[in-house]
Amino acid sequence: MQTQPDSVHQFLRARTQAAHESLNKHGLLEGLTQPGYPLRSYWLVLSAYYHLYCAMEALIESASERLKSGFDYIPRRKHGWLRQDLVDSFHIDPEDAFWRPKREFLPIRIEDQAELVGVLYVIEGATLGGQVISRQIQASRLGVTADHGGRFFHGYGEEETSRWNEFLTFAEQACPDAAQREKAAHAALAVFTEVEAALDDYSARAGSLPRPRT
Ligand code: HEM
Repeated sequence: MQTQPDSVHQFLRARTQAAHESLNKHGLLEGLTQPGYPLRSYWLVLSAYYHLYCAMEALIESASERLKSGFDYIPRRKHGWLRQDLVDSFHIDPEDAFWRPKREFLPIRIEDQAELVGVLYVIEGATLGGQVISRQIQASRLGVTADHGGRFFHGYGEEETSRWNEFLTFAEQACPDAAQREKAAHAALAVFTEVEAALDDYSARAGSLPRPRT
């Protein structure tokens, strides 16, 4: 995707590039799009994301309301897609003890619009990568499609570009100067750190999976 020079987008992308690359190499994500990736690792990724997105989306929505941001996150909620993948396709209840996080979610501070932009950048940007992952998963032999276990990665589907552009317009308006961009980058990096910690938590239990309910 093209970025405008000197845009908030270009700034955030550059500042988080190393964190993104490090996540792509995480043990639980590496190989996700390759044939032979185990379905049980996929269940762990979805469960980790489900609990993370529940917490993160609650934070985004309350901050957005408090700050009167004008950015309507509610139609963008993704934890319902993750729940649908887990419960409907794999008969996994993410509230069962095994699938729950073993660590406390560390709330990310969102005290102004710039910090909201930083958090949203990671959550909304991940849907761009999600679409690439969605296409590759369907081509691999995992047996996942948009309707079966892959709703989350399918994301906004054909609306992806328009949703992303709406977010970028909001980001530009909300971060007009260097200090605000810096704050946004700081918040974005805190989200990447939290995603990595959530994946660490779940990869530690990869060897001891219960049978999903049938
Ligand atoms: C298997 C793991 C992952 C892969 C293979 C991957 C791949 C990608 C790809 C290919 C893009 C570019 C899409 C495009 O420009 O159309 C992208 C963008 C992005 N991804 Fe990921 N991703 C992964 C995991 C994650 C995770 C876990 C997060 C954070 C929750 C994340 C956050 C982002 C962000 C913020 C962008 C937007 C970058 C930009 O500013 O253009 N990604 N990803």
